[in-house]
Amino acid sequence: MEKATVITEVVLPGRVEVDGLQLRERELPAPAAGQAVLRMDATGVSFAEQQMRRGKYFDQPPFPFVPGYDVVGTVVATGPGVDPAMEGRRYAAATKVGSWASHQVIDAADLVPVPDGVDAVDAETVVVNGITAWQMLHRAARVRPGGTVVVLGANGGVGTTLVQLARHAGITVIGTASTRHHEAVRALGATPVDYRDPQLYQRIRELAPGGVDAVFDHVGGPGIVDSWRLLRRGGTLVSYGTAATKDEEGDSRLPVLKLLGRLVLWNALPNGRSATFYNFWAGKRRIDAFRARLREDLTAVFGLLADGVLTAQVAARFPLSEAPAALALAESGTVAGKVVIVPDA
Ligand SMILES: NC(=O)c1ccc[n+]([C@@H]2O[C@H](COP(=O)([O-])OP(=O)(O)OC[C@H]3O[C@@H](n4cnc5c(N)ncnc54)[C@H](OP(=O)(O)O)[C@@H]3O)[C@@H](O)[C@H]2O)c1
Repeated sequence: MEKATVITEVVLPGRVEVDGLQLRERELPAPAAGQAVLRMDATGVSFAEQQMRRGKYFDQPPFPFVPGYDVVGTVVATGPGVDPAMEGRRYAAATKVGSWASHQVIDAADLVPVPDGVDAVDAETVVVNGITAWQMLHRAARVRPGGTVVVLGANGGVGTTLVQLARHAGITVIGTASTRHHEAVRALGATPVDYRDPQLYQRIRELAPGGVDAVFDHVGGPGIVDSWRLLRRGGTLVSYGTAATKDEEGDSRLPVLKLLGRLVLWNALPNGRSATFYNFWAGKRRIDAFRARLREDLTAVFGLLADGVLTAQVAARFPLSEAPAALALAESGTVAGKVVIVPDA
């Protein structure tokens, strides 16, 4: 068992610019019953941290806190009731917060094994991104092979994974991205369209004149109406974010609640289409079923990564101590794939 009680972590002290993130050291308590100590091998920047530093995340944690939505790491200690054979093995977890740390204490039941031979950084790119993409495609939209979908933000962390999963399932993908990313989006197997093009939706209609089977929309705002109109009869709008309202002042929950109201209305009308909001944490109150579903889906995604079906989209790597630079890059609008954070040398 490794003795690593003093750990390094990144703290978001309040609503700050990216350079306001702080680095601190503290002693990690010993793992209690059912817990393990996970040493971070890779964590990453999600869109959630962009919202959290503005106090605009739907389920905003109170400041100060340690950000970090997901992690891949090695178990270095186990508490009572946890199989000591987990020590020395690599696992992944979705944590929502707390993963921008060299080590963390975590419930062992939240750990999902990473297959041998899969690189930690590669695995990190598909933890929350992979689960989100898999569940939206296979549990929410259930698009059949031969179908056509639109993925907004096809260059992002979730977007690049969703495009690849859909292509693997025999689905045609139209992906929105700024033109600088069109080559990368095309390489993933999607047809890119420029989200800044004023004729964007007309262009998508030209590519799919009969309408599409699903639209995956994390942008929200007024454009959600255009996403809805792209659907063919029987099609599904999967809304999963409100990126468009990130910089709006006011209650962080309001944009999502407004969106939900609209989706409920669309669903109630007899229009032959459906609309749903995907929430990663839905069903968490029934924790055993939630964990089983997450484990099943992430294991499927890891299998595709191990088989080479999925290619990890790593935008850049930063050591933990350079988390501000990692977040700044993720926010720059120049990135394709996931910005990954690794331990300091
Ligand atoms: N509902 C859920 O449970 C759930 C779970 C996971 C993720 N999400 C959501 O999924 C989205 C993607 O997350 P991620 O971690 O993959 O983020 P990411 O890697 O930072 O990618 C964000 C993508 O969104 C685009 N984008 C950002 N702001 C935009 C705007 N105002 N209008 C249009 N496009 C915009 C970016 O394009 P540029 O690169 O051109 O800026 C990029 O393609 C986020 O909105 C996040 O909140 C939701």
